[in-house]
Amino acid sequence: MNKLYLLGALAALAMPAVQAQTAAPAPSSKDVFIKDLMKRMTLDEKIGQLRLISIGPDMPKDKIREEIAAGHIGGTFNSVIRNENRPMQDAAVQRSRLKIPMFFAYDVIHGHRTIFPISLALASSWDMDAIGLSARVAAQEAASDSIDMTFGPMVDVSHDPRWGRTSEGFGEDPYLVSTIAKVMVQGYQGKDMASPDHVMASFKHFALYGAVEGGRDYNAVDMSPTRMYQDYLPPYRAAVDAGAGGVMVALNSINGVPATANTWLMKDLLRKDWGFKGVTISDHGAILELVKHGVARDGREAAKLAIKAGIDMSMNDSVYGQELPGLLKSGEISQGDIDNAVREVLGAKYDMGLFADPYRRIGKASEDPADTYADSRLHRDAARDVARKSMVLLKNADQTLPLKKQGTIALIGPLADAPIDMMGSWSAAGQPDQSITVLQGLRDAVGSQAKVLYAKGANITDDKNVLTFLNHIILDRKEVDIDSRPASDMIDEAVRIARQSDVIVAAVGEARGMSHESASRATLDIPATQRALLDALKATGKPLVLVLMNGRPLDLRREQVQADAMLETWFSGTEGGHAIADLLFGDYNPSGKLPVTFPRSVGQIPQYYNHPSIGRPYVPGQPGNYKSQYFDEDYGPLYPFGYGLSYTDFSLSDITLSSPTLHKGGTLDASITVSNTGKRAGETVVQLYLRDVAASLARPVKELKHFQKVMLAAGESKVVHFTLTENDLKFYNAQLKFVAEPGQFNVQIGLDSEAVKQASFELQ
Ligand code: NOJ
Repeated sequence: MNKLYLLGALAALAMPAVQAQTAAPAPSSKDVFIKDLMKRMTLDEKIGQLRLISIGPDMPKDKIREEIAAGHIGGTFNSVIRNENRPMQDAAVQRSRLKIPMFFAYDVIHGHRTIFPISLALASSWDMDAIGLSARVAAQEAASDSIDMTFGPMVDVSHDPRWGRTSEGFGEDPYLVSTIAKVMVQGYQGKDMASPDHVMASFKHFALYGAVEGGRDYNAVDMSPTRMYQDYLPPYRAAVDAGAGGVMVALNSINGVPATANTWLMKDLLRKDWGFKGVTISDHGAILELVKHGVARDGREAAKLAIKAGIDMSMNDSVYGQELPGLLKSGEISQGDIDNAVREVLGAKYDMGLFADPYRRIGKASEDPADTYADSRLHRDAARDVARKSMVLLKNADQTLPLKKQGTIALIGPLADAPIDMMGSWSAAGQPDQSITVLQGLRDAVGSQAKVLYAKGANITDDKNVLTFLNHIILDRKEVDIDSRPASDMIDEAVRIARQSDVIVAAVGEARGMSHESASRATLDIPATQRALLDALKATGKPLVLVLMNGRPLDLRREQVQADAMLETWFSGTEGGHAIADLLFGDYNPSGKLPVTFPRSVGQIPQYYNHPSIGRPYVPGQPGNYKSQYFDEDYGPLYPFGYGLSYTDFSLSDITLSSPTLHKGGTLDASITVSNTGKRAGETVVQLYLRDVAASLARPVKELKHFQKVMLAAGESKVVHFTLTENDLKFYNAQLKFVAEPGQFNVQIGLDSEAVKQASFELQ
C-alpha cells in the first residue's frame, strides 16, 4: 500500500481529503485507522454507514444530499454518471461531520457501457482469458463512470432452467463456475482494487439462490448439507479465496432459515470457516422481508435478526436506522453487533481507496467525458471477440453452415432486428441503439456480395400476460415492440421473402426480459407465434438456419428436427450481430460448449450431468422396466453439458495414464491425443471427468475436474496432459469432512460430458 494512500486515508478523518493529504501522519494499518475513526463516530453516524440506497431518476437529489451531509447514508447504487455522483460525494466529504466518503455501486454483470454476452454465454466460451477480459473492460468502464463496487459476479449454481436468473449465472457445474468466479473477481478487482480503473467485486447471492424450489424466483431452498457443500457452495468459496471485497446475501431461506437471518451461513461458514474479511450486503429490501418469511414479528425483530446474523449493510430500506437505536437501548443487541457491521463498511471503503481519495473514480468535473454515451468509450473489438467465443453450434446437418456470402439470404424473426434483446437482461448502462443487431451484422458482413432480405415474421409472443409482464420487468424502457398486423400477414410476408432466397436464417427465442430476475417460466418452449412462423418457413423447403437467442436452456425438440443448423447465440451483447455474422459465414469457427444441460422437456427437470449414482439407472440401449426413466419421454438430455460442434472434426485417442495407481500426496498424468481431422483450423475444449466407483456415499456419475481449450490447425494433433492429485478425488463425506477415499476411480475424457474415453486407476 503506498504512502500517499495512507496519508490521505487518515487525512479524510478531519477535513476534505484534497487539502489534508500533506498534513496528517500515516496510520500504521487499516485496522488502526478504522478504530480511530470509529471512536469519533456517534451512534447515528455509525448506523448511517449501514444504509445503502438506490437512486432513482425521480428522487429529490437535494434531500438525498442533505441526508448524506447528516451522515445518514453509507453508499448508493443505480446512479452511474460522474456528475450525478460527484455532488453526493461532495456532500459526504465536504459537509458531513467526519467526511467519510460514500461509495457508489451498480449491477455490472456482463459489461457496463460495452455489453458483453450474458454470463451464461461467457461460461459457454470455457475461455478464461476471454472471460477475464470482459470483467477487466467492465471494471474500467464502470470505474470511469464513478462506480466503486459491482454487485457481481453472480455465481449461483442452478439445475433448473425455469429459473430466469439462469442467464445471469455460469451454469450447472461447480468446478466450471468456481473457475469463472475466480477469474471474474480478479478481473473486476485487478491486483489492487483501490486502483482507479478497478472496482470491488461483491459476489452473490450467498447462498444457494439457484436452487429455489421449482425454479420459481425467491422461493425456498431445502437441501442436504453434503449436496450444499459439494455442488453449490464451491463457487462462493472460490470468490472469497480470490479476495472478493463484498458479498450480497441471498433472498431465499435455506432449510427454513432465511439467508438474511442465517448466523450459521454468515458467521460460521463465511467468516469463521472461509475467513471472509469483506462487507456483507443484504439484497434489496431483504431485511424487512424476514417478516414475510415468517421468522420476524415486525421490522424491529427483522433488524435484530439481520444485525445479529452479520448483515452489515441494508439495501434500500431504512429498517436499521429506525430500529437499531431502540434495540441497543433495550439491550437486545450490543454495541459490538453494530460496530462489527460498521467496521466492515468502513473497511470496504478503505479497500476501495476512498479514504485516500474519495474522487479517485469520480474524477474532476473538467475531466468528465464530453458525452457519457459516446461510442468512442466502447470496447467493440473485445466485445466482438468474446461474443464469437461464447456461441455454441448445436446442429449442422450437411454442412449447411458456414453460409456463402452470395445469392439471397432471408433473415426472419422477431429477434433479427431487436437491439434491446441483443444486450441481455443485466445491461442497464448499455445503450440499445449502440448494439449491432443480427440484421446489421449480416448486412455489414456481406456488403454488396449478397442480398439480405428481412421480415419480422412474428411477434415475440402474443400472450397478453407475458407481454404485460415483459413491459413491467425493466421499468425505464418499453421492452417489446409489438407489430399490430395479424399474425398471418406477418407470416405471409416472411414466406414470400423466404421463397425468393437461397437460405433462411431465423432469429428466434426469448425476449431478454424472459430470462431475468423474477422471470421464471413454467414452459421452456419457443413461444407459439414463433413456432408457427418456423412451421411456415420449414414448408418452403429452403435450408433453415436457426439463430437462437435465449437466456436459459430451451425445449428444442421440434426445432432440432426442423432446422438444418442451429446456433445458440444467447444474448450476445453490443457486438452480437457482428459476432453472429462471423460465425454464420465461417469467418470464425464455433468453439463454445454448453455450460448447462439442455433437457428435452420441462418434465425432465432437474436434468444435470453430475447427478448422483443410483441403484436402478437406465442404461441406453438396454430398455426394460424398473429402471429410472420416464416412460413417456426419451432418456437423457437433448444436448448434454459440455456439448458444442465446430466446422471442423476432432477425434480422440484412448487415454494414457502414467500409472495404474495414484498414491496419496502424489500425482498421476492422464493424457489423450486430440486430432483435427477436418479441413480447417478449429478450437475445442478437452474435458476431464472423474467417477469415484465405490465410496462411503453415493457419488456423482461423473464430475468435471479439469479442462483445456485447444486450437488445432487442419490435420494437426496434440497430446493434452492433465495432472491428477488426491485433491481432485476429494469430496464431502457424511461428516462434512473433505476426504479422498482409497479405491477405484474412472477417468473420462471427452469433447462433451457424454462421448468420452475411459480408463481407471486406484487411489492408494
Ligand atoms: C435485486 C437482485 O436480486 C440483486 O441481484 C441486485 O444486485 C439488486 N436487486 C440490486 O439491483
